[in-house]
Amino acid sequence: MAVIRQEKRRLDYQKPDFTITDIDLTFDLDLTATVVTAVSRVKRLTTDGDKPLVLDGDSLKLLEVRLDGRECLYNETSNSLTIENVPDEFELTVKTEINPKDNSELMGLYVSDGKFCTQNEPEGFRRITFFTDHPDVLARYTTRIRAPEGAYPYMLSNGNLISDSVADGIRTVTWEDPFPKPSYLFALVAGDFDELHRDFETMSGRHVDVYLYVDKGQASCGTVAIESILKAMQWDEKRFGLEYDLNRFNVVAVDFFNAGAMENKSLNIFNSKYVLVDAKSATDTDFENVLSVIGHEYFHNWTGDRVTCRDWFQLSLKEGLTVFRDQEFSSDLCCRPIERIKAVNVIKGPQFAEDAGPMAHPIRPDYVMEMNNFYSVTVYDKGAEVIRMIHTILGEDLFQKGMKLYFKRHDGCAVTCEDFVAAMEDASGISLKQFRNWYSQAGTPCVSGSLSYDGNMKQATYTFNQTTPATPGQPKKEPFVIPLSMALYTSDGRRIPLKRDGKEVSEVQLLTEEHNVIVFDDVPEKPVTALLQNFSAPVRIEYPYAQGELETLLKCADDPVVRYESMQNIINSYIVLNTVNAQRRLPFTHSELVVQSVRYILEESGLDNRFMAYILRIPPVNTLMSLFTAIDLDAITASRKELVRVLAVELFDLWEKLYLKLSADLKNRIASGTAYECSEEQIGSRDLTRVALNFYVKGLILRGEDRKAGETVAQHYAVSDNMTDSLIALNAATLHNLESRHGILKDFEEKWQDNPLVFDNYFRAVASAPYPETMENVKSLMNHRCFDITNPNRVRALLGTFSMQNTECFNEISGAGYEFITEILIKLNSTNPHVAATIMTPMLNLNRLDNRRKSLITSCFNRLLHIEGLSDSIFEKIDRAFKQ
Ligand code: TRP
Ligand code: ZN
Repeated sequence: MAVIRQEKRRLDYQKPDFTITDIDLTFDLDLTATVVTAVSRVKRLTTDGDKPLVLDGDSLKLLEVRLDGRECLYNETSNSLTIENVPDEFELTVKTEINPKDNSELMGLYVSDGKFCTQNEPEGFRRITFFTDHPDVLARYTTRIRAPEGAYPYMLSNGNLISDSVADGIRTVTWEDPFPKPSYLFALVAGDFDELHRDFETMSGRHVDVYLYVDKGQASCGTVAIESILKAMQWDEKRFGLEYDLNRFNVVAVDFFNAGAMENKSLNIFNSKYVLVDAKSATDTDFENVLSVIGHEYFHNWTGDRVTCRDWFQLSLKEGLTVFRDQEFSSDLCCRPIERIKAVNVIKGPQFAEDAGPMAHPIRPDYVMEMNNFYSVTVYDKGAEVIRMIHTILGEDLFQKGMKLYFKRHDGCAVTCEDFVAAMEDASGISLKQFRNWYSQAGTPCVSGSLSYDGNMKQATYTFNQTTPATPGQPKKEPFVIPLSMALYTSDGRRIPLKRDGKEVSEVQLLTEEHNVIVFDDVPEKPVTALLQNFSAPVRIEYPYAQGELETLLKCADDPVVRYESMQNIINSYIVLNTVNAQRRLPFTHSELVVQSVRYILEESGLDNRFMAYILRIPPVNTLMSLFTAIDLDAITASRKELVRVLAVELFDLWEKLYLKLSADLKNRIASGTAYECSEEQIGSRDLTRVALNFYVKGLILRGEDRKAGETVAQHYAVSDNMTDSLIALNAATLHNLESRHGILKDFEEKWQDNPLVFDNYFRAVASAPYPETMENVKSLMNHRCFDITNPNRVRALLGTFSMQNTECFNEISGAGYEFITEILIKLNSTNPHVAATIMTPMLNLNRLDNRRKSLITSCFNRLLHIEGLSDSIFEKIDRAFKQ
């Protein structure tokens, strides 16, 4: 039977015919047959009394429907329930039965390791009961949870605890959420947990009980998370003036979860990966992620819950804004430049890649088949960049004024991106008319600049042209408003003030046209130009830097992001040049500039360790791909390897010296009894150790000293007192295929095979090794006791790492990688299609790859198109890939 698939269009939005103001839910919990009784107060919103009530449903067994207590006629399909001839206001009772245990999609009510939990965003609530399951219907929820006494010590839902009683061996717990909310924010949890508790007093004196629930025995791994909640509460008061609005805030950690975490009103549910950390088992990155994800979900209480989205096309309204808020939170609490560079890497890596591929969409998409496919780096991270640009244009004070107006106007409402921009505009008095193009147009703008300097007039004249490549459905683009933060330097690195007509002008120049001319006066010499300070816009820059200019910026720029980007520029030029050489089978071109720049950073820059580690990052192949329209994977891989080889060989002494110093520091720290801690300073040493060790090991191997390389790494592993250092060693061992990897992997396995979350690091290390045997290793690890294809964390760690990070093996020219992942996609299609759709991302590039790989992927896609019951998630991506 032919499946009819339909895209929904943003402009087709219609106000709902009915709303539901109150809903009373009763859950009779049972692992395989939970009965849900929903009693709703339904009100007609239109004057058209003929319109039937249409409710959404998915995978439900309908037991009973009553209208004002009486039986009524209805029409049920696999995804809807329609009742004709209903009054303008009535009470609707719907009784459904669901099977949480067999809910492998992890949307709706499901069971995670014996505990009931929910995930309703975006369209999971319709898998619990028939309901108007769109975010523009806001209802007050009362939730009654019933289960045999003693079965589930904790039974939680949104809002305030109203009662908890037992009758006839059945315990009933009732929760009431006073804040009207869309169905996607409903949550229920039932099971046994360890509980952590903290008190918080808000700035206006409200007392809040903060609870964190984790797997039994894991309480000691929850302290960082619960402390992070308090930090987030405090920070949101201080920076945004936003207070928590209930007397209770709960976070629950579960092991089976499709995404990072979920902001359900007063009952956040988290992937345990972003909650459970301790000094022994978590990496520095794990610690940082807990703070930022806890912050993210907490901040949603205002930007998402109090003011929510009118429809899912508006997702960036809450996600872009909340990512911006969590980035600011981490920046204020940790190290701002590092946080900024991390965000820049996400944009220039996966986001630019998405923009260049068939799934390219504006941060506010225009058409969507499967909403789950649009929880994307574009909506989230580019969305945050768009908010950041508004912040840059308005400044902190006007931006906060805009936030205040936004809440004043829209508190308790479901609104659009347009409403947000209008509030910013009205509060600031600054027009954002043309700026709105960032919401409607996809693709990465390219700004190409040039400078002409007039020595007599002491004038610097810049021309900037912006062009944005066509993206699916958008052949032509209007110019964007691009805030370009500039700084001018003399050739010896002194800052030149920006002046025009005798007056100082702002660093942030707004490019609004296709062609822009910007003039600065009183420029004493031909300036060295820093463009895009702090990465002030998510664009690509083309600028003909003269000899020595990038070095000047690398050494002298005031803005750390400019220094970072200058080094990236130097590296990218090397890669582009040598990729072309590789394609033409010419010898590699040596670049003294790259070598000298790295030497400068190591020997003279005086940069702190952490920044040094970031600046020395060689972008991975899947980021470097964005530098090319047609992707020659073999040539890019070869030129990247050559760069690593050159740096390892030419700077061998420096890497050796640096590594030995850092490893001595580590030993000294341990010997002196100083504990591992997640301070900027300690993280910095470890970040730099990772870089130094890998170059040192590479250098040793190139000198034929494989044994010494293996021993060095084994030593590092043996000495380590923390997960980060252990993984630096383990990853170096697998990355360089050292003999000592066997011993290290074996030890790690013995220590951690009972902790799947930690064992994911093993999966990642093996899956990312660039060697022919990797795919077979990955396949056999699918039989490991820790692996479980029904757990999204495991799938992402082992299979997602292989497809998304191991560009070399996955794209191996025989097509074996594509076929392997295609098999996995077929399996996951019937159990968890949303997770499947995320790991297929690299295959969407097919049209930019060589003909051989293109045809291999094409046959895999054709195979997928023919399987029975292909999900919309996978179909939509293949369909778009073929159309591009
Ligand atoms: N709103 C969640 C967040 O960004 C995203 C999310 C959680 C999600 N779980 C999901 C999205 C499941 C899709 C499917 O914080
Ligand atoms: Zn979010």
